[in-house]
Amino acid sequence: MIKTTVYDCSLIELSKHHHEKGNITVVENNFTVPFGIQRTYYLYDIPGGESRGGHAHRELHQLIIAASGSFSVTLDDGNVKRTFMLNRPYQGLLIVPGIWRTLDDFSSGAVCLVLASKKYDELDYIRNYQEFIVYKNNGIE
Ligand code: TYD
Repeated sequence: MIKTTVYDCSLIELSKHHHEKGNITVVENNFTVPFGIQRTYYLYDIPGGESRGGHAHRELHQLIIAASGSFSVTLDDGNVKRTFMLNRPYQGLLIVPGIWRTLDDFSSGAVCLVLASKKYDELDYIRNYQEFIVYKNNGIE
């Protein structure tokens, strides 16, 4: 998954069911998202000014949702950068493998919900930006 670009990533609209007692949004495997969800995690209590991410994945697909509050996600394929502001719980950012991502500008109380296609595997991470650039160019580090 080394040839992916930021244009393979997109902000998608999720279902939003209005209800007088509040709303509900549903995400389903291989329907709402183009992968099977194997893992769900969420970031919260993020200190003001803090930045998260700062890595790429070799095989992992993810859907990132601002379940509460807002934050920005900057995607980088080694050539082009795109920044998305996530601030609605019924929108999600689909990220394909091979994309460097940085999350910042977290609002107070923000919750970053991540739906992921694989179980946690540190070997799937590229945490060094120079290694990432080499990986994108050659497929080797
Ligand atoms: P990391 O993915 O680097 O965080 P972020 O991208 O949100 O800044 O993960 C931070 C730490 O948490 C890292 O030491 C690995 C651990 N971790 C797990 O053990 N399991 C998981 O599913 C995730 C996402 C992280």
